[in-house]
Amino acid sequence: MAKANELNLTHIGEARIVNPNDDNAIQKYAELFYELRKAKGITMEDAKKKAKDPLYLGCLLVKSGEADGQVAGAANSTGNVLRAAFQVIKTAPGISAVSGAFIMQLPEGSPYGHNGIFVFADCAAIPAPTASELAQIAVSANRTAKQLACIPEPKVAMLSFSTKGSAKHDNVTKVQEAVALAKENYPELLVDGEMQLDAALDMTTGQSKAPGSPVAGQANTLIFPSLEAGNIGYKLVQRLARAGAYGPVLQGLSMPVNDLSRGCFAEDIVGTVAITAVQAQNASK
Ligand code: ACO
Repeated sequence: MAKANELNLTHIGEARIVNPNDDNAIQKYAELFYELRKAKGITMEDAKKKAKDPLYLGCLLVKSGEADGQVAGAANSTGNVLRAAFQVIKTAPGISAVSGAFIMQLPEGSPYGHNGIFVFADCAAIPAPTASELAQIAVSANRTAKQLACIPEPKVAMLSFSTKGSAKHDNVTKVQEAVALAKENYPELLVDGEMQLDAALDMTTGQSKAPGSPVAGQANTLIFPSLEAGNIGYKLVQRLARAGAYGPVLQGLSMPVNDLSRGCFAEDIVGTVAITAVQAQNASK
């Protein structure tokens, strides 16, 4: 309170503060966590310890409907932020794999994507996705592209080192299976692959390597075959092309939780809070 007054944050009095060290205040959240996890063999004592952890307490406030979303991670690893969300918030209907997307904004004048805007996924959560998980990443990224990146018609490319069978490898087969699953399970998706990045982005290359594809040469939503590719890919574009990289936006949770980098700045926190608020509005529709 003293710090808030010093910074002239006069509205702080309207915020509800739950102190994790106040045993009485956290009791009901400990009970909620116990209910959620008792089938996993936890005790009430374990549940109390978890409810005192701010990462879990925040998720429990969201789960109980007392908060609309959580923003965390300025002082915690991505893994710890994700684990609390997975255990408490759980996934949205029809999704079992949560993933992390970045909204990428290329410098003005870029001929690629939707006026230089892309969604890249998964860049944060699933180290070695299965074909089914890749298909879920695609459908979640499609939603992120529409709801947060204002891309009216996401064109989703499932990336690989092969285009339409040009190479043979188990990793290629996995992406081909993911494309088939995505087309079968989510017929509303405009998705295609497997394709190399140049075929996804460049019209001439796309038409030559994947003739007739509704996505090749026009992709604005890129699904990477592994977390290594996605995490390295977004950082390459951010650094070498000087693109803005906003995220990771966690997609596929039933209520929003978002992760910050430990190197974040105040503006990053404000931006992530804004994204979380928009996700909360969409989740309640
Ligand atoms: N979606 C939904 N639920 C999941 C997912 C997922 N992607 N992954 C795990 N879970 C669930 C499990 O089903 C399990 O649920 P249960 O306990 O109710 O049965 C629970 O989460 C814990 O599962 P574990 O397999 O024990 O999870 P683990 O602790 O091994 O790891 C984690 C999960 C933390 C997400 C791990 O996969 C990870 O570390 N991912 C990479 C995170 C990272 O470092 N990203 C890169 C940095 S971010 C950046 O640079 C932007």
